[in-house]
Amino acid sequence: MIQLNLDVITHKASWSPSGDHAFTEQLFILRDGSASFVLYWYDDKPDSLVLRNLFVSTEFRRRGVALKILSSLTDYCKLNKKELHFWVEKDSWIERWYRSIGFAPNGEMDGDNIWMGYLWS
Ligand SMILES: CC(C)(COP(=O)(O)OP(=O)(O)OC[C@H]1O[C@@H](n2cnc3c(N)ncnc32)[C@H](O)[C@@H]1OP(=O)(O)O)[C@@H](O)C(=O)NCCC(=O)NCCS
Repeated sequence: MIQLNLDVITHKASWSPSGDHAFTEQLFILRDGSASFVLYWYDDKPDSLVLRNLFVSTEFRRRGVALKILSSLTDYCKLNKKELHFWVEKDSWIERWYRSIGFAPNGEMDGDNIWMGYLWS
């Protein structure tokens, strides 16, 4: 179970789709109801975490909640030598924001989206 420096309710489950890599997903819900997100990783690549569905509740936006979550995630990755990956819409304010706080693009996902990430080294 991944332990982050956040007050969360969390749940972890694994899944082995036939013919595909087994993976594990961990859901995090901030206890104050401000946000939720998912981390998943393939069981044969446990050091490469993927962040998806980071959602801050509308009434909590622009108060630094996402920044706090990302900072806790990068602290965890630094300490445990994990990579963090996620995808965003290309040329969006979210891409520009992630770049401004130190995340780097690391490949095209499809025509509209790119992968970005944090590589602890
Ligand atoms: C993207 C999202 C997670 C940001 O959450 P948040 O807690 O509001 O973000 P923060 O308060 O930490 O904002 C940090 C910075 O991001 C930028 N930002 C946040 N929302 C913005 C918006 N709507 N437009 C432009 N810039 C924005 C600003 O630079 C902001 O800093 P500032 O408020 O000091 O100007 C939230 O808007 C959300 O849940 N959106 C819907 C789902 C989504 O798009 N998830 C991301 C998938 S990759």
